[in-house]
Amino acid sequence: MVCLGNICRSPLAQGILEKKVSLSTIVDSAGTAAYHVGTPPDQRSIDVGKKNGIDIGHYRARKFIKEDFKNFNHIYVMDQSNYHDVLAQAQSTEDHIKVNLILHSHQEVRDPYYGGTEGFDYCYKLLDNACDQIVKDLNL
Ligand code: 4NP
Repeated sequence: MVCLGNICRSPLAQGILEKKVSLSTIVDSAGTAAYHVGTPPDQRSIDVGKKNGIDIGHYRARKFIKEDFKNFNHIYVMDQSNYHDVLAQAQSTEDHIKVNLILHSHQEVRDPYYGGTEGFDYCYKLLDNACDQIVKDLNL
């Protein structure tokens, strides 16, 4: 799960998907930017997770690195900007085809960082539905 800062959208997506799959499926998240590396998720993401029974308070932000293409079979990005930033690090067609927008039909999960808590509720809803779809698509 990849977003820009790895503190709002992608940690939530990680927590949501982790809860839906077995422990043998490794789920992780990262950001394309390094601004928040080493910090916990945004308090508003922690809160919306908690409200929905998901604990993401122990996650720490990290930056997406090209080795992630080797370590993961599927890479889900939140918006077009993440898509381009991740693809810029792809080194093969095999890397390239691992990357998809998390929402179907080219929709984006917009950055809720500068808005209010309702943006985080909406983000949660989008990601919860998207993760249900991932579980179906990948037979997890
Ligand atoms: P995220 O949200 O990409 O969903 O983690 C953001 C968090 C921080 C910033 C931008 C987006 N920022 O500019 O600091």
